[in-house]
Amino acid sequence: MKKGFMIVCDGSNGAGKTTVIKGIENHLVNKGFDVVLTREPGGTVIGEKIRDVILDPSTPEMSDMTELMLFGAGRAQHLQQKIIPAIESGKIVICDRFDAATFSFQHYARGLDLETIKTINNFALNGFVPAMNIILDIDPLEGLKRVKSRGEGLDRLEDEKLEFLTKARNGYLQQAQLQPEIFEIVDATQSKEEVLKSVLKIINSLIVKHA
Ligand SMILES: Nc1ncnc2c1ncn2[C@@H]1O[C@H](COP(=O)(O)OP(=O)(O)OP(=O)(O)O)[C@@H](O)[C@H]1O
Ligand SMILES: [Mg+2]
Repeated sequence: MKKGFMIVCDGSNGAGKTTVIKGIENHLVNKGFDVVLTREPGGTVIGEKIRDVILDPSTPEMSDMTELMLFGAGRAQHLQQKIIPAIESGKIVICDRFDAATFSFQHYARGLDLETIKTINNFALNGFVPAMNIILDIDPLEGLKRVKSRGEGLDRLEDEKLEFLTKARNGYLQQAQLQPEIFEIVDATQSKEEVLKSVLKIINSLIVKHA
């Protein structure tokens, strides 16, 4: 059987990831593909429990290294239990955030050593690389306004200072510059329809590439 592949949708909080992923799913299902939607942190029962620990706003004392290793632990489980089996059985996996987010938030924003992050990440991924990271780019302040307009509270990472979120945004842009073959930046300030159109262009060329 032909293998599937994984597309990551990533970017600032409130950039529109969840919204655009629904559009991607509709598009792919209409074309007859088997699609698996998943997210990080999370994606498995164990991963969702780890997510709750990572994002709990009542524990601001979490150390940077604890946070990093929790992300790594969840990712290892996610890859083995869900992502690899789906790809092996020919499915297209769409993941809401993945390792680019760890580099953006833990390295570019928090300042954790790059080599340490690469080491933990390599333990979890063992050489696995997604086919594409689609980065929805927006000023984090605009993203936060969107999150707030959704009417839910902020989680521990959304509640970080604007400066932190701006560094994370720039981290995504820098990663895209360093690895243009697996990153595409999409202007997330466009309307929902325009964002989806831009994203589907990228998806359609990936389908051709993996045909
Ligand atoms: N292009 C857009 N223009 C205006 N509003 C948008 C756009 N995309 C999404 N929204 C709205 O902004 C809010 C946040 O969108 P969404 O939940 O998709 O973002 P997200 O990136 O998944 O956020 P989070 O980081 O919190 O998971 C929602 O209310 C959504 O309807
Ligand atoms: Mg979301």
